[in-house]
Amino acid sequence: MIVTIDGVAASGKSSVASGVASALSIPYVSSGLLYRAATLLALEAGTSLSDAPALLSLLGAAPLRLEPLAGGNRIYLDTPDCPRELTADAHTSAVDAGVSALAQLPQLREWVNARLRALTPPFVAEGRDMGTAVFPQARAKFFLVASPRVRALRRVKERVGDVEAVEQALIARDEQDQLQSHPAADAQIIDTSDLDLAGVIAAVMAGVQE
Ligand code: C5P
Repeated sequence: MIVTIDGVAASGKSSVASGVASALSIPYVSSGLLYRAATLLALEAGTSLSDAPALLSLLGAAPLRLEPLAGGNRIYLDTPDCPRELTADAHTSAVDAGVSALAQLPQLREWVNARLRALTPPFVAEGRDMGTAVFPQARAKFFLVASPRVRALRRVKERVGDVEAVEQALIARDEQDQLQSHPAADAQIIDTSDLDLAGVIAAVMAGVQE
């Protein structure tokens, strides 16, 4: 069984996917973390975020390992001499600002999608195009939306920042992500603006059990 939870930036996808996965006793998979880790490695190596061949060559030599647990995903660079966890470094504003550029490259999307399709179900897959491009066969599909202001307020609670600036950055990322971020025709759209986390998880669980 695969359940897909897609949605706009900071719509609460990870927390919802984690809650739903825990309720179903299965893992959840964060596709965004693969895009983020790839962006982090490119920024550190000074590789252009629009140079697909250079990025693929960098990633081909990087033993990245995604750990898809129900409680939260982690990502590691399993270099034999110096293994390193990348999870925290993959969530900085620098990565936030660069990730959409890399994610717009079809070759990079294929690189991520191949890793996701190699995983063994059951799991909850979370991202932008899980229900459309990657797992069209999923049993239940959801797409989360919320107003930019609500999302900015939530994000500022997680990380420090100015609400106005965070809201503008989210709107910019929404625009850049638009091509790959839209609901599947058979997805249930949930507006989380006026719901708390438990309310969104309950709405998704009701849809899964339909
Ligand atoms: O979900 P998260 O905010 O961690 O995703 C980071 C970025 O990765 C998104 O802004 C988007 O550019 C890209 N992404 C994507 N497709 C996905 C998941 C993430 O393009 N399925």
